[in-house]
Amino acid sequence: MRLDVLSIFPDYLAPLELSLIGRAREKGLLDLTVHDLRDWTHDRHRTVDDTPYGGGAGMVMKPQPWGEALDALLGAGAASAEEAPAPEDGTAPVLIVPSPAGEVFTQATARELAERRHLVFACGRYEGIDQRVSDWATTRMEVRPMSIGDYVLNGGEVAVLVMVEAIARLLPGVIGNPESLDEESHEDGLLEYPVYTKPAVWRDHAVPPVLLSGDHGKVARWRRDERLRRTARVRPDLLVALPQDALDAHDRATLAQAAADQEPTAGVEAAGPDLAE
Ligand code: ADE
Repeated sequence: MRLDVLSIFPDYLAPLELSLIGRAREKGLLDLTVHDLRDWTHDRHRTVDDTPYGGGAGMVMKPQPWGEALDALLGAGAASAEEAPAPEDGTAPVLIVPSPAGEVFTQATARELAERRHLVFACGRYEGIDQRVSDWATTRMEVRPMSIGDYVLNGGEVAVLVMVEAIARLLPGVIGNPESLDEESHEDGLLEYPVYTKPAVWRDHAVPPVLLSGDHGKVARWRRDERLRRTARVRPDLLVALPQDALDAHDRATLAQAAADQEPTAGVEAAGPDLAE
């Protein structure tokens, strides 16, 4: 997979040289390049921003450096091709524009983007990038404004670190043991179970005995029950979103018991939907 990141703070992306992502780059699994947007400016001050039309606070990123940078990354013909929407068959490069106003980036988005050939990340700063950059880019690319959550960051760089890590670890060969991906939080709509290692007792806290039983069936059932209980407690919204057939009778009994255990005593109604039915 090819990844290009455009930023006025390329050093911010240095963590992409470390750990699993760094190793994947060394192994050639990931062709990732971080570019300084200012390389596509032409004035002495390497200006990338200007005042907003219509007035208001802050500065807006100028379209010109972005346009030239995208032309360079898309290669010959990018600037001269006819203005037609990029093909919607999954072959077009994807322009990901981190923004608190974008669609929310989820594990499903990561999985979807991990299938694509070429991702370009455009890190905006200030009040954002002139809208015409995205409007023009739709003629060459699939444009995806993307938010990593309901809070505001100073720019797109941190969001790109998050998204690149979530996407890259799904690529073949990046994670040593791909089976470890299967039971992770968010992969099947449930949070993951708690994990333990030696010693069996630490500061008077014992490992749950079932994990020492050697009974693989019981361990698997306990882990699934823990995932259900944890999800019900911390993220009931995820349970509501599960497909109808995702829970069997045993799962529902576990959830009913968890709800009963959580039930407030003094006649106060438990909040949230009844998932045990
Ligand atoms: N830029 C600023 N805030 C952001 C957010 N929440 N997600 C993605 N990009 C952003």
